[in-house]
Amino acid sequence: MVDALPSVVAQDADEVVRGFVPTRRFAGVSFETYVPDARYPSQLRALLRMRTFAADANAVQRRLPFFRPKTRHARAVYLDGGYGVGKTHLLAATYHALHGQRYYLSFAELAYSISRLGMDQALEAFAAARLLCIDEFELDDVAQTRMASMFLRHVFERRDTHVVTTSNTLPSDLGQGRFAAEAFQRDIGDIARAFEVVTIDDEDYRHRQWHDLAPLGSAPNRQSDGVSMAWPNLAKQLERIHPIHYAQIAVKLEALHIDRLRTIDDQAMALRLVHFVDKLYDQEVRLSLSSEVPLTELFSPTYRHGGYEKKYRRCLSRLHELLSERVVLPGGERVAGQVHVSQGVDDLRGGGQRQVGGVGGADAQDGHARALGG
Ligand SMILES: Nc1ncnc2c1ncn2[C@@H]1O[C@H](COP(=O)(O)OP(=O)(O)OP(=O)(O)O)[C@@H](O)[C@H]1O
Ligand SMILES: [Mg+2]
Repeated sequence: MVDALPSVVAQDADEVVRGFVPTRRFAGVSFETYVPDARYPSQLRALLRMRTFAADANAVQRRLPFFRPKTRHARAVYLDGGYGVGKTHLLAATYHALHGQRYYLSFAELAYSISRLGMDQALEAFAAARLLCIDEFELDDVAQTRMASMFLRHVFERRDTHVVTTSNTLPSDLGQGRFAAEAFQRDIGDIARAFEVVTIDDEDYRHRQWHDLAPLGSAPNRQSDGVSMAWPNLAKQLERIHPIHYAQIAVKLEALHIDRLRTIDDQAMALRLVHFVDKLYDQEVRLSLSSEVPLTELFSPTYRHGGYEKKYRRCLSRLHELLSERVVLPGGERVAGQVHVSQGVDDLRGGGQRQVGGVGGADAQDGHARALGG
């Protein structure tokens, strides 16, 4: 076990853009593996909508002579919904269903690319895009709002580019609680009008509520092939690296153990951890941790209820999914790949049980081992 994060290397703009593909967790998902929950009709609607969207986009691209889309042919869809309801699954499935040049990146990566390259060069870098998949659209500040509305305006001037994005926030509510969003309604309104909103309802598919997250004990059998760091040391290393490079770290990291996690009472640090966990989640890094407090108390209550509340909750939801892939109970007992199954919801598949992608029992474990070359 090493106690330092893998190093970050400088990449040129081309390398960065070439890397905008679905993350390891979503590399193999498809419309076929999305199982709509019959209790929430919006899920089947969203699935059908995205299938049609992909078919229409492919037809436009092939310029079929008599192609007439069956539905209003929106070129931009905004998948809205709570955490863990399958938005990113559908986003990545759309990516995999489309032909031609496409890019898959998070909104944070888009914002970083634009600030690093400049607007003109960023537009140029995505000029050949038939599809842009932008995960986790959210506006943190005024500069991002301006940038996003300008970028999208230019993108939609190109007739061939389609856009799909996901968010935990309806477009009209973007930025609320984070900055004086009321003053920027023109830009936010422009963004909102550009998209057809498709809302997905469900309880968190990761099936854990805020209060159910159990306190975690220390992990006696750490991985020998990964990194193990005490929380204060990890916090210091994360502070020294721009969050945009966390993805690069996660790609290189097989397993991570975080020791002595405790309540974080610095908002900037908490947001860095949230971003880091997002990347660990995306790359299916095997995570274990020991914590001095229950996970529900990881983030200080003072900022847990403000404009970033959803971010913190989503982080706990993802942490839970990651940890249930490899849970160490307080007594030291290891529970491999806890199975999350919701029952009796599956008329569409002819009854029976539905299993959550990525956290299933033996199969998920095998798949995971394969992905890690084990
Ligand atoms: N209907 C579904 N059928 C099969 N797997 C699903 C379904 N919904 C979600 N999943 C799986 O559950 C996990 C969580 O889904 P996903 O990450 O797509 O949710 P999300 O809505 O993007 O959440 P977040 O708001 O945290 O980004 C993923 O592993 C995904 O593949
Ligand atoms: Mg998501």
